[in-house]
Amino acid sequence: MSNIVVVGTQWGDEGKGRVIDLLTRRVGAVVRYQGGSNAGHTVVVNGQRFVFHLIPSGILHRGKKCIIGSGVVVDPEVLLKEIEDLQKRGIIVNELYLSESAHVVMPYHKQVEEWEENQRGKLRIGTTKRGIGPAYTDKIARRGIRISDLLIKEALRKKLIINLNFYKKLYGIDFSIDELTSKYLSYGEKLKDYITDTSLLIYQLMRKGEDILFEGAQGTLLDVDYGTYPYVTSSNCIAGGACTGVGIGPGKITEVLGVAKAYTTRVGKGPFPTEIKGEIADALRERGKEYGATTGRPRRCGWFDGVILRYAARINGLNKIILTKLDVLDKLNKVKICTAYRYKGKIIRNFPAQESIWKESEPIYKELKGWEKDTSKITSFKELPQAARDYLKRVEEIGEVPIYLLSVGPQREDILAMNS
Ligand code: GDP
Ligand code: IMO
Ligand code: MG
Repeated sequence: MSNIVVVGTQWGDEGKGRVIDLLTRRVGAVVRYQGGSNAGHTVVVNGQRFVFHLIPSGILHRGKKCIIGSGVVVDPEVLLKEIEDLQKRGIIVNELYLSESAHVVMPYHKQVEEWEENQRGKLRIGTTKRGIGPAYTDKIARRGIRISDLLIKEALRKKLIINLNFYKKLYGIDFSIDELTSKYLSYGEKLKDYITDTSLLIYQLMRKGEDILFEGAQGTLLDVDYGTYPYVTSSNCIAGGACTGVGIGPGKITEVLGVAKAYTTRVGKGPFPTEIKGEIADALRERGKEYGATTGRPRRCGWFDGVILRYAARINGLNKIILTKLDVLDKLNKVKICTAYRYKGKIIRNFPAQESIWKESEPIYKELKGWEKDTSKITSFKELPQAARDYLKRVEEIGEVPIYLLSVGPQREDILAMNS
């Protein structure tokens, strides 16, 4: 039995989608455990690009179960569109399962989010505007609407009356109860064949000896408890979130794999100690096509941060990592890895918990020679230029976690084992 959690080790967009797609071959099911349509997971197969927001990134493999767990907040409109778009492209979506306990993102969540962001002004978070924060807020405040409510008119109406009353009084947001009830019941009707008790389904699959992959969205530094709060998302993206997000015991998880990009990116606001601006940052953005898969926003770019990799290894209990996008560094004549931070003259090796320290920390770098050779066509570790091997060795040493696979391109096959 092997039940593997795949998590982002940085601020998201590390290449989790392409990793999940690759590993799906080995398992019976892939499960999303948190987040919502704020995620944009890209998979490229035979030159065709797919971006998944809610559907697990294993869906391109026929016969594999793709499960959306109870920890995900689901925008039914986005999910239905995603299913439709896949079907139009000839992908069969008959092994999709949606948790009846997952919470629903409602249109008023998006309006509140916009209002809140405007209130914050300069201190805005720079969210994806997908209603994620307010949907999780309703869940925790115990007034949320769950997927199972979309199947029962009276249940939905009753909850909507409470919610719409609340949103009207507090934010002046007004929706027609009748219109919303009929719209969301129609979504329930369209989704009903996918809706089930996914925790039970996963338990039964495990009992049959099926291997399962748990797909994290966002990344460790965007986790609501362990990320760069308040510049985070509203869920537990870390490996621990997989247990609560799908309803399994911690003992069932056999391995945790981290996905790390060979440099660092971040979308939205918030601290980013190794951020760089200028020519090199622009080169990384253009070569790495660093534009948000969900919002199209340009991603902020910077050097690889070993402090956050060590932190991610600790917080997630990483067994190993998959390093992606090494090829994006190919043209640089020097590359840098942050080994520690300097704060008020003191050296900090462990990722600090305080916002004021992130802001004022200065990265301490190990500078290495660039390899200035094309790595995107290589198929084995042995073919890598020596300078690239040195870089990988340093990442492992500074991050204190071994690299297991190395990705050198966006296509499914552009990946190699470290011992190849
Ligand atoms: P995710 O959110 O973690 O799944 O990552 P995204 O899909 O948002 O962003 C990763 C981007 O990098 C996508 O456009 C991928 O196609 C691309 N990508 C993934 N791995 C590699 C790689 O090794 N090299 C290059 N050049 N692109 C990659
Ligand atoms: P994937 O799964 C990168 C960021 C937003 C913002 C913050 C809060 O593709 O890696 P939210 O809409 O979640 O309330 O926004 O989190 N963010 C992501 N950044 N990749 C993602 O997902 C993200 N999902 C949210 O930019 O800074
Ligand atoms: Mg993404």
